[in-house]
Amino acid sequence: MHQQAETLRTEALALIAAATDSASLEAARVKYLGKSGAITALSEGMRNVAKEDRPAIGKLLNDLRAAVTGALEESQQRLLEAADAAAVSTLDLSLPGTFPASGTLHPLTQLMDRAVQCFRRMGFAIADGPDIETEWHCFDALNTPPDHPARNEQDTFYLPDGRLLRSHTSSVQIRVMETTPPPVRIIAPGAAYRRDEVDATHLAQFTQMEGLYVAENVTLADLKGTLEFFFRELFGSGTDIQFRPHFFPFTEPSYEIDIRAAALGGEWMELAGCGMVDPAVFEAVCKQRGDRVYDPDKVSGFAFGFGLERLAMNLSRIPDIRMLVENDLRFLNQF
Ligand code: PHE
Repeated sequence: MHQQAETLRTEALALIAAATDSASLEAARVKYLGKSGAITALSEGMRNVAKEDRPAIGKLLNDLRAAVTGALEESQQRLLEAADAAAVSTLDLSLPGTFPASGTLHPLTQLMDRAVQCFRRMGFAIADGPDIETEWHCFDALNTPPDHPARNEQDTFYLPDGRLLRSHTSSVQIRVMETTPPPVRIIAPGAAYRRDEVDATHLAQFTQMEGLYVAENVTLADLKGTLEFFFRELFGSGTDIQFRPHFFPFTEPSYEIDIRAAALGGEWMELAGCGMVDPAVFEAVCKQRGDRVYDPDKVSGFAFGFGLERLAMNLSRIPDIRMLVENDLRFLNQF
């Protein structure tokens, strides 16, 4: 049996060492260790071995098994390594790689970031509200009567359930006062929606930046000072700013702001709406909150709102508003 085992070991190891692929390796395994393999057959001969010889023969067979199994594993590893080496042998590691194309910030995002930075320096926090709004937040609480043209289905997108796509970010004023007692000083950049015919100067979705400051003794001087500082920070100290009396249901008095700056092409442009928060808005908020922290006899405030697209267009000399949403890389790469 010794002799047989020794012969099998030599044969098996030679066959395994000569294997050049995993199929011949598997064939070698089956030949020696398979169900009817040679080593398996030899082990079955144990039955006929004299009792006193069994331990020695058992060890002999175990060693043989271990040697062949080890050789199989080693060869398997060797074949894998050879396959890996073959796979990379045709790679030229000295060739330059392919670089991922890196983008730039959208001109609207760049303007938004600058505006946000400026207001943050003045202590304004960023606030947010849903794009899908209730009529109450978008209109009623903002003192906008049911027959106001903005509430018309021709001007505003209504959902079947009666909610709407907010037609301005002023709804965030209400959202903030509903949940936060004064003083509040927030800006709210975000999308607004109107049923406008899309053309070179109109989109049905555009971007607004809302502002609200409510505390004790906030005055029109605070409103003017804040917005003048902001526009001169953004467009240069030589920027001309004009507050033109106007009407908004939710502010009283109300103004439109026109500015003229070299950076914006040097022409007057109508830019923003603003005013002192109307007492009726504070009353609506008080009623909703169930307390009097926004009592118009105790607090006052200003609000403003402006669109970002037209500003970005003037700043970057963009002739058509649709270019801002087409995602054409030839356009976007320029910023
Ligand atoms: N919501 C107004 C608009 O969309 C702008 C505005 C905001 C005016 C705040 C006054 C106060 O035109």
